Amino acid sequence: MSINILGIESSCDDTSAAVIRDRQLLSNIIANQEVHKNYGGVVPELASRAHQQNIIPVVDMALKQAGLTSADIHAIAFTRGPGLLGSLLVGTSFVKGFALSRGIPMIDINHLQAHVLVHFLETAEKTHTPDFPFLCLLVSGGHTQLIVVRDHLEMEIIGNTIDDAAGEAFDKCAKVMGLPYPGGPVIDKLAKDGDPGRFQFNKPKLSKYDYSFSGLKTSFLYFLRDSMKKDQDFILKNQNDLAASLQQAIIDILYTKLILAAEETGIREIALAGGVSANSGLRSRLQEEAMLRNWIIHIPEFRFTTDNAAMIAITGYYKYRAGQFATEDITPRARMFF
Ligand code: KG4
Ligand code: ZN
Repeated sequence: MSINILGIESSCDDTSAAVIRDRQLLSNIIANQEVHKNYGGVVPELASRAHQQNIIPVVDMALKQAGLTSADIHAIAFTRGPGLLGSLLVGTSFVKGFALSRGIPMIDINHLQAHVLVHFLETAEKTHTPDFPFLCLLVSGGHTQLIVVRDHLEMEIIGNTIDDAAGEAFDKCAKVMGLPYPGGPVIDKLAKDGDPGRFQFNKPKLSKYDYSFSGLKTSFLYFLRDSMKKDQDFILKNQNDLAASLQQAIIDILYTKLILAAEETGIREIALAGGVSANSGLRSRLQEEAMLRNWIIHIPEFRFTTDNAAMIAITGYYKYRAGQFATEDITPRARMFF
C-alpha cells in the first residue's frame, strides 16, 4: 500500500507544507516571511507570529495541490529541531492537533537529517539517488557540517564549524557591505560579474575536518574599514569584486575539508545540501572537483536547497518505514544532534 505523508517545516523563517506518496513529491508549498527584510536578520518573535498566520493556508494549499484531503494522509512529519523555539512550537502544536483529530501518527524530524535526505525525493526532474555510504557537505544559515551517510537514518557528523556557519559568513559580510538580508543570494548574484582573485582574506588553519568562518568575517570587516578610510565609495565601486572574492574564500574553505575527508575516508560519492548549496560557485566547483577526482556527485534542485517541507516529508517516509513515531508528549528542541 502507498503511504501519503504530510510534512511540516517551521524551524526558522519559512512556513512550509508538503505531501508525498511514498518517495514521490505531490506538493511543496513555501511561505517566505518578508517581514524580516527590514531588520537585517530573522526576528524570532515576528517569525512565530508569521508561522501562526501562514500554517493553515499553507497546509490547505499543499493538500489541494496534491489532490488529497486530510482524510487521505497516513502520517504527519514535522521538524522537531534544531531551530527557533517559538517557530518550532507553532509547527509542533499544529501537528499535534492534526494528528489527534485524524487519529494518525506523528513523526518527529531532525531538520539537518532532512536537508541530507532531500536527495531521496522522487521528482519529475530527478530519478537517481545517492548510493551508501556518501559524504554530504551540509551548508546552511545555521550549520556547516561534513556528514558520512551510511544509511537513510544512519549518519555521522565528522566535521563541524567551531563558530559561524557558512551561510552566516555570507549574510554577515553582506550586511557589512550594506546589502539586504539574506545576503547569500545577493553576493552570489554580484559575484557573477566580479573577479574572484582580486582580494585575499584570512583562511583558517584548523585540524581535521572542522570549519571556522569568524576569522574570514573579521578580516573582511577590517579590510573594508581600512579601504573606506582611503575612499568613502570603496564598497560601491568594488561591489562585484568584493562579492566574488568573498564567495571564492568561503568556497575554498569548504572544499579544502571536503577534499581531505573524501581522500581519507575513500568515499567518492559526494552530495551538497542546505541553503548555501544554492550558491552557483559552490555548485560549479563540485562539478570541477568531480571531473578531477572521479567523484559521483549529487547537487539538489534549487527549490530543495533552502528550507522546505518536502525534505521533512521524505525523512518522515523513512522513519515511518522504520516504525519510528513520536509520542503525544513530544516537545520541540532548539538544539538537536543526530
Ligand atoms: O537551509 P537554509 O534555508 O536555512 C537554515 O537552515 O539555515 O539556509 C539559509 C542560508 C542563508 O544564510 C542564505 O544566505 C544562504 O542559505 N543562501 C545562500 C544562497 N541562497 C541561500 N548562500 C550563498 N549563495 C546562495 N545562492
Ligand atoms: Zn535549513
